[in-house]
Amino acid sequence: MTDARKIIIDTDPGQDDAVAILLALASPVELDVLGITAVAGNVPLALTERNARIICELAGRPDIKVFAGCAAPLKRRLVTAEHVHGKTGLDGPQLPDPTMPLQPGHAVDFIIETLRQEPPGTVTLCPLGPLTNIAQAFQTAPDIIDRVQQIVLMGGAYFEVGNITPAAEFNIYVDPEAADIVFRSGVPLVVLPLDVTHKALTTRDRIAAFRAMGTEPGRMVAEWTDFFERFDMQKYGSQGAPLHDPCVIAWLIRSDLFAGRHINVMIETQGEFTTGMTVADWWGVSGRPANALFIGSVDADGFYALLTDRIRRL
Ligand code: BDR
Ligand code: CA
Repeated sequence: MTDARKIIIDTDPGQDDAVAILLALASPVELDVLGITAVAGNVPLALTERNARIICELAGRPDIKVFAGCAAPLKRRLVTAEHVHGKTGLDGPQLPDPTMPLQPGHAVDFIIETLRQEPPGTVTLCPLGPLTNIAQAFQTAPDIIDRVQQIVLMGGAYFEVGNITPAAEFNIYVDPEAADIVFRSGVPLVVLPLDVTHKALTTRDRIAAFRAMGTEPGRMVAEWTDFFERFDMQKYGSQGAPLHDPCVIAWLIRSDLFAGRHINVMIETQGEFTTGMTVADWWGVSGRPANALFIGSVDADGFYALLTDRIRRL
């Protein structure tokens, strides 16, 4: 019997997704990864499920179950982000082909079956990409909604507003209808928006620390972050790039590194210019009940210390 928290990582790797998955797999005392479900997002599904398997093998965990999920958003055409992540989604280092198998069956069915099998309130969902798989599972099997312990997700923004459009963050923008279902579901949400991830920037020293490990995971993380940061540095003129998705896993391990507010967050699905916006009532002016712990800040040094310590263990 272990005290590790049971999680399903729903993901569209993505270099920052990759680092998040490595962080989770390097933290077995705190986290029990029941499975990884791939979704279309940064790159199409055929690449995200493949990338997820490459990452598991890199972590020495070919036993992790990886499922392919939805290839397109609920109601819209897929928008991808090769301009950020490169053609493969994991551009940077030379990547091996995965040898571990993709699990038979659909990711949405895995999510449903797992939530029905495990005791209620013991499984946390960790979406790192568009919320299509999660929303599809909730629509197909509404009985599982009450059984979810928590959803801890990367998505949205309030003070930082948007990255894929002036008003919207990528994960929410790609499938706003799915996000709307999740944010209205009643499941306790923890949201790691751009407001916090933009405070978790890479630096030369932080990347050098990964490279200095002299391990394959350390080298990969260094090369991924090297590749990934060029886009944000050019765009924002910042000193490094935000490691968005690892913030989700870090919050699960060390929530004391983060601070936020319990607020109401709604998703704009109709806006002419604002589709995919997370309308976050940070100042409590709407009168709408809180549905999310919306994180606003992080101890960046503590976050990178955790990440470095854990990646070194792989
Ligand atoms: C989110 O979008 C993706 O490009 C990243 O992997 C992250 O999940 C940041 O907006
Ligand atoms: Ca992602």
